[in-house]
Amino acid sequence: MKNDIQSIKSEAVAQILEAKNISELEDIRISYLGKSGKIASFTKNIKNLPPEEKKQVGVIINETKNTLLKLIAERKNALSTSTREWFDPTVPGRKPPVGHLHIVTQAIKQISEIFENIGFVRVRYPEVEWDWFAFEALNMPQDHPARDDWETFIVDQKPNDKLGRVVLTPHTSSGEVREMFRVKTPPIRMINISKCYRRQSDVSHVPMFHQFEGLVIDKNISIANLKGTLDYFVKNFFGEDRKIRLRPYNFCFTEPSFEVDISCAVCGGRGCKLCKEGWLELGGAGMTHPNVLKNGGLDPKKYTGFAFGWGVERAFMMKNDINIPDIRILYSTDLNYLKQF
Ligand code: DAH
Repeated sequence: MKNDIQSIKSEAVAQILEAKNISELEDIRISYLGKSGKIASFTKNIKNLPPEEKKQVGVIINETKNTLLKLIAERKNALSTSTREWFDPTVPGRKPPVGHLHIVTQAIKQISEIFENIGFVRVRYPEVEWDWFAFEALNMPQDHPARDDWETFIVDQKPNDKLGRVVLTPHTSSGEVREMFRVKTPPIRMINISKCYRRQSDVSHVPMFHQFEGLVIDKNISIANLKGTLDYFVKNFFGEDRKIRLRPYNFCFTEPSFEVDISCAVCGGRGCKLCKEGWLELGGAGMTHPNVLKNGGLDPKKYTGFAFGWGVERAFMMKNDINIPDIRILYSTDLNYLKQF
């Protein structure tokens, strides 16, 4: 009987080690260790043994049981961590998240297209710029108080004798004289969209933002051309029902200068809680100052022009009637927020 137990044990060990899954392992356990299993049949037969063998065989049976139970537990552990029990092919797969263009990129694309449709040329000028292009050439001398408004980042680099310090461009107007140098002989129809930098960070300002700057120079360009172009843009970008108005203002690089307002989408220009008087401020515009034309190498007696420079983020918010409580969220990684547009 001792030998029989031994050979059953070897047989069981081999089967346990080869079991391919947990249910197979369970069948093996029942066939050897279950109530009517092979080991149980030895236990039943103990009573027929001579008294001196009874005890010895009892010990062997117990040891065999324990060894097999331990092996089964180990194998079970190994099977449950290394292989999948079952696979349900009807469960739908996990969809990878699909992103979309950032809202500022979407706005830039739309703005470019609207102006390109009427013959404007999309350009981009340096973000790291000489003081001369950013201020001096735009009729804003070094000590002019208006320069304080721009709160410019200055790059720690030796100034150039003619072009002055290196700055992070605070507005896209710095591309105006560069465009005059590039085209040389008007007509000029520029739409310059790029990043701008100012030392400001609060709920309505970010240190890096975007502007789009239009510049048109030709013979006989008048305020009527400026107004017509802005009207066209506003109707295409914001909607047919929106109107603009020009309000006198002061910029060094344009004369006369204006702030451009757009009729409020909520009340249609009648006045409401959002806009108060029916109009919302879009940005600056004006007729190019003769000194700026001269700095760009153009004769102000021969040519006139107009320009405008507006914020992309601001225009986007106004188009979609969204009042972003903190504009900095546009440049955060808060996907829950950004996904909605
Ligand atoms: N550069 C001005 C700014 O950053 C905006 C501006 C005003 C641009 C009048 C223009 C203009 O071209 O004519 O605030």
